Amino acid sequence: MYNLLKGKRGIIFGALDNKSIAWKVAERAHEEGAIFTLSNTMAAIRFGQIDELGEKCGAEVIAADATSVKDIEHVFERSIEVLGGKIDFVLHSIGMSLNVRKKRLYNDLDYNFLNKTLDISAISFHKVLQVAHKKDALNKWGSVIALSYIAAQRTLYGYNDMADAKSLLESIARSFGYIYGRESKIRINTISQSPTPTTAGSGVKGIDGLMDYSERMSPLGNATADECADYCIVMFSDLTKKVTMQNLFHDGGFSSMGMSLRAMDMYNKSLENDEINEIE
Ligand SMILES: NC(=O)c1ccc[n+]([C@@H]2O[C@H](COP(=O)([O-])OP(=O)(O)OC[C@H]3O[C@@H](n4cnc5c(N)ncnc54)[C@H](O)[C@@H]3O)[C@@H](O)[C@H]2O)c1
Repeated sequence: MYNLLKGKRGIIFGALDNKSIAWKVAERAHEEGAIFTLSNTMAAIRFGQIDELGEKCGAEVIAADATSVKDIEHVFERSIEVLGGKIDFVLHSIGMSLNVRKKRLYNDLDYNFLNKTLDISAISFHKVLQVAHKKDALNKWGSVIALSYIAAQRTLYGYNDMADAKSLLESIARSFGYIYGRESKIRINTISQSPTPTTAGSGVKGIDGLMDYSERMSPLGNATADECADYCIVMFSDLTKKVTMQNLFHDGGFSSMGMSLRAMDMYNKSLENDEINEIE
């Protein structure tokens, strides 16, 4: 370990169970010397395993619905109190779509569900930033990260209204990044992670096929949740002070690929099969 976060105070939103990306970030932040609080919804705290993580990392768990400004205010107030000062890093690792859960297709969305998707998965990021800003809760050179997915830029079958939420999330990082950077030297970025086997990830239609496809298409293979945690730690550290308003792809190279040799071989083989079928 490198003590990259020694002396830093943080807030980590979104650890549910030991598969969660936020869970891995908390474990790594603890190893790197940070102190932090954990936050999730009351239901997630009751049904998930976050208390276990809190004990392991010496972190207080604070219940909050990320769509409630009041709840977020409480998270910041309580965190500053228990951690003994202003906050240096924040992880927003929150996402949920009722349209995905209820298997509503993109051309048959329930608009109440869509509003919830956008509020939980994107506008909550604005709420976290606005509360932090109004309360002057972040230290100079602090770092805020939200987790995104390439469906913000490209159409991936099955990702549904979460694609719209991720586009908005990335836009909020840029818009707030300007204000917060200019005023307080605070950096705001999104990390666009490979498909990852977590509770949220497994809700996406066709996730197994998607994970297999991007694993084969990425020269370095899919990035794991542990590797995502490593990247978050670097982004929270003082080694990345001038990186802001970026969407940072953490995907083994997937986002820059068009066609791989392997995919080309498979494509050619499937064409050969088609020709054989036609002859038969
Ligand atoms: N798993 C993937 O394939 C993948 C890929 C790229 C990005 N991401 C993003 O990573 C983030 C974390 O997801 P994960 O894959 O670790 O899954 P996860 O299910 O472990 O985490 C999602 C979290 O969001 C929390 N949440 C839902 N509604 C909330 C609300 N109203 N208030 C506060 N918290 C709420 C859940 O309780 C849960 O802890 C999400 O933003 C997700 O979209 C995931």
